[in-house]
Amino acid sequence: MKIFRMNLWSCLFLAAVVWINNFEVDALNPGFKARITTNGLNYANSVAIEALKTNVQKAKIPDQSGEASGFKYSISNIHVTQFNPPSSDISLVPGKGLTWKASNAYIAIHGDFHYKKWFISDGGSFDAKLSGVSFGLELDIDANSEGRPDIAAKGCSSSFGDVDFKFHGGMSWLYNIFRENVANVIKDSLNGQLCKMINKEVNEDGAKKLADIKVTTKLAKKFLLDYRLSANPTFQSDYFETYHKGEIYWLTNPNTECPFSAPTMPDQTDNKNMLYLWISDYMFDSIGYAAQKHGFLVRNLTQNDLPASSRGVLNTTCSGFIPKCVGSLIPEIGQKYPHMAVELRMKSTEVPRMTVSASGVSLNATGTIDMYATKPGSSDTPFLLSLGAIGMTNVNISIQNELVYAQIKNMKIKLSVIKSAVGKISGSFLDFLVKEALNTVLIPQLNDLGKKGFPLPVTGEIKFTNTKLSFAKDTILIGTDLKYTPKTSAPIKDTSGPLKFIPNSAGIALNNKL
Ligand SMILES: *[C@@H]1O[C@H](CO)[C@@H](O)[C@H](O)[C@H]1NC(C)=O
Ligand SMILES: *[C@@H]1O[C@H](CO)[C@@H](O)[C@H](O)[C@H]1NC(C)=O
Ligand SMILES: *[C@@H]1O[C@H](CO)[C@@H](O)[C@H](O)[C@H]1NC(C)=O
Ligand SMILES: *[C@@H]1O[C@H](CO)[C@@H](O)[C@H](O)[C@H]1NC(C)=O
Repeated sequence: MKIFRMNLWSCLFLAAVVWINNFEVDALNPGFKARITTNGLNYANSVAIEALKTNVQKAKIPDQSGEASGFKYSISNIHVTQFNPPSSDISLVPGKGLTWKASNAYIAIHGDFHYKKWFISDGGSFDAKLSGVSFGLELDIDANSEGRPDIAAKGCSSSFGDVDFKFHGGMSWLYNIFRENVANVIKDSLNGQLCKMINKEVNEDGAKKLADIKVTTKLAKKFLLDYRLSANPTFQSDYFETYHKGEIYWLTNPNTECPFSAPTMPDQTDNKNMLYLWISDYMFDSIGYAAQKHGFLVRNLTQNDLPASSRGVLNTTCSGFIPKCVGSLIPEIGQKYPHMAVELRMKSTEVPRMTVSASGVSLNATGTIDMYATKPGSSDTPFLLSLGAIGMTNVNISIQNELVYAQIKNMKIKLSVIKSAVGKISGSFLDFLVKEALNTVLIPQLNDLGKKGFPLPVTGEIKFTNTKLSFAKDTILIGTDLKYTPKTSAPIKDTSGPLKFIPNSAGIALNNKL
């Protein structure tokens, strides 16, 4: 009965893409939203059928024994010889949830039988054809008190049509005596176990696996990304949606909420893709807030941070190779502090904001840059000047391997003098500083962060295909089809031994890549 488990797990994987809760309805807008469309559910269903095809041959029905008309019989070594998958369907019930129905599977099985009465003892083999195998149930998708997903089977029913037997070997007049009994034994055994098994799979094993999914994940060692569910899922006729917190906290201070709230997410009516994900710029603003509040956005820029070829620009005394340096552009620095190097102590003074609009993504940052003269081995670091800085940049967002990547294209930095201990500062010095120091250091560093990729709440077994990225007010919208690639088919061995009938080996792992 690996069959039905595969079916089930294929269905569960969709539930794992989206975790759904009703533990505490959060009236606030979500920072992240997922939509699974009818096409997505159809795909889940087709994956289930594929799994059926490949696994049903390996299913095994446990040995049976009983007594009929004084004959003790046993049947063993029962295995599937042919399988025609059911027509199956995972469908939406608007306002309610999901149902999963499968009907008209055909299974042919072969097995050995043995019987005994008084001195008569004989055996042979049999072929049985089971047609009209059907089942149906509701899937309740829910969450526990921690915002983790939970799933429960409700109202499972199964039925079997005809069972047709053919016996080989032994004495045929005897077979007819228990033929009906064996047919009924097989049928009852399957019928009784099918729903029990599905319920167990869903309610115990499935729930356990879903509960293992990390709904929060660490980012850059300092932050905590929270994809917990923030409201009940809603079920429409064409899709269902899940709503997630979508907030990023300071790792050691995960209870401090960011002071701004997520904006309303724009709707969209294209439901052609299997899955849609809405990422609010609120997610990025909340990481900006946590970073700003905990003094993460500070940086000292020294000569060593610059490429070797341009280190000289921060010298207070220019060398022959570098005609322009701080000391020549601000002569007072060169006169007062010769043969020293300038250090830039930069800090963000406002929460950096990312803005998404239909035309794309931009980032604004505001800070100050204090400049000091330093000399190796000396603790005397005279203050030179203080600058205000505003940075604006477009961000190129892309998606690859189910991760969101950000890349800064060109940053415009505007500097203004706040305070100077070294006289008048020329505009050409400020331009020089931006070009030679800030752009060469800040952009690569920011891009290094962006290169790590931002995780989405999908399991490692789901790959995106035909992925489209678009932008709307405050929202990055991803529309994608899915390709399910199970990591482990470990419990299934192709060569020998059929799988156990009673499901207790690991199902398809719902590993979370986060
Ligand atoms: C920058 O340098 C100053 C002075 O040495 C120091 O107090 C501060 O902690 C440094 N900041 C960082 C982020 O390294
Ligand atoms: C910068 O100044 C230091 C001494 O303060 C010197 O050793 C170094 O060669 C200078 N670098 C350049 C590129 O001029
Ligand atoms: C970023 O800065 C520009 C220029 O100052 C401004 O027009 C824009 O509104 C700012 N965006 C945000 C999100 O603050
Ligand atoms: C954005 O990044 C992607 C991936 O690195 C790249 O293929 C694309 O050309 C970039 N777009 C722009 C406008 O720079």
